Amino acid sequence: MTTSKNIITTDNIFLPSETTILKIKQTTNQEKHFTLKYTDDSKMFFEPGQILEVSLFGYGEIPIGIASSPTRENSFDIVVRTVGRVSTAINQLKEGDSLYIRGPYGNGFKLEKLRNHPILIVAGGIGVCPTRSLIQYIMDRRDEFKTFTLFYGTRDPSQQLFLEDLKQWRSSDKIEYYETVDKADENWSGSVGVITELFNKTSITKDARVIICGPPIMFKFVLKELEKIGIPNNHIFVDLERRMKCAIGKCGHCQINDKTVCLDGPVFAVSDIIDLEEAF
Ligand code: FES
Repeated sequence: MTTSKNIITTDNIFLPSETTILKIKQTTNQEKHFTLKYTDDSKMFFEPGQILEVSLFGYGEIPIGIASSPTRENSFDIVVRTVGRVSTAINQLKEGDSLYIRGPYGNGFKLEKLRNHPILIVAGGIGVCPTRSLIQYIMDRRDEFKTFTLFYGTRDPSQQLFLEDLKQWRSSDKIEYYETVDKADENWSGSVGVITELFNKTSITKDARVIICGPPIMFKFVLKELEKIGIPNNHIFVDLERRMKCAIGKCGHCQINDKTVCLDGPVFAVSDIIDLEEAF
């Protein structure tokens, strides 16, 4: 029988649970896409946009956004970029190996504020990982939302993640999908340019709810475009998960003035943080 699990309710908040790696895909030269399930077959309940602390004994722990929707299988996905000691060790694991997790943590993408509105997601680089959870969710519950538009930008075509999803998004009538790369290669026939140029390809209405996830430099330019359309800052949400470490309010690593990203976020309405200089 499948049982439910939410580690945040156990006595020891630092105690991780064992998962088994069901599948690993090398997605780019830096990133691997893992599909995991709890080894004891429990089901994890989570919201799109929530975070896991992923650990490997002897190496340490890193926060990673969940990259699949709770509307999908009993398994869940994460993408690990090789950037340090822990992620390098995780990316050397094989299918069938164990990986340990705590969580889920954080507030997610505030679905109650998105339902029954046109949705625009702007995802830059690895920022597409946490938003994939929301993208899948909206695709699975399409009638709960109005128009659905996704902008995805990467440095070059080799940096694109989730290639099978991209094929589906390009041809699906459930989503208006636009993509661009900063620099093309010989096989690329799509758009070239910064992600804000995608605003010229379609019209976004001012009643849209917008989710932005990507490198900080992207935020300012996207916010300028949204201001031109007239979308108010309380309808725009940014994901600041890049700042997190312990995920439970203990280390102070994620503090931005009076906000604690892991407890108050990682998703914030822009109106709540626009005056905090360090946020962008
Ligand atoms: S990540 Fe440690 S306090 Fe938020």
